[in-house]
Amino acid sequence: MELTVNGRTVQLDVDPEMLLLWALRDVLGLTGTKFGCGVAQCGACTVIVDGGARRSCVTPVQSVAGSQITTIEGLAINGKPHPVQQAWIDEQVPQCGYCQAGQIMSAVALLQEIPEPTEDEIARAMTGNYCRCGTYPAIRAAVLRASGQDGGATAAGAAGRVPDRG
Ligand code: FES
Ligand code: FES
Repeated sequence: MELTVNGRTVQLDVDPEMLLLWALRDVLGLTGTKFGCGVAQCGACTVIVDGGARRSCVTPVQSVAGSQITTIEGLAINGKPHPVQQAWIDEQVPQCGYCQAGQIMSAVALLQEIPEPTEDEIARAMTGNYCRCGTYPAIRAAVLRASGQDGGATAAGAAGRVPDRG
């Protein structure tokens, strides 16, 4: 089966029903995507599939063959953090860090769809991403910063873009 992950096409010899989370972590070694609940309730496993946030823990790998998959490892360009990652750094968002890859992927998907989201739109988009450390206020601030609405250094619109590695 052919999978395109972070702009690279790879051949996987796996059970088509294998969940994308395990294909990414155990087969491709992309361990930035985390396992939390396994039932699409916590958001820790979020990746971007064809521009939209997707819970990889409930996504059979065969269902995303031919799609563009982006993981946290695919956001930085030439060693420079993606604008959303930079906003996360500037706002010092992470505590334990476990949920943060999923949070960032949901934020990137949101900003791709809505470059300047309102606080309500941010709350709605991020509501399925849980953080046991309670970093929600910092996440909200980082999304606003990444969208250029909070005096952040990032131009609106640029933040949501998934790198074009085609
Ligand atoms: S591990 Fe996928 S949503 Fe929790
Ligand atoms: S930073 Fe610890 S769970 Fe979110």
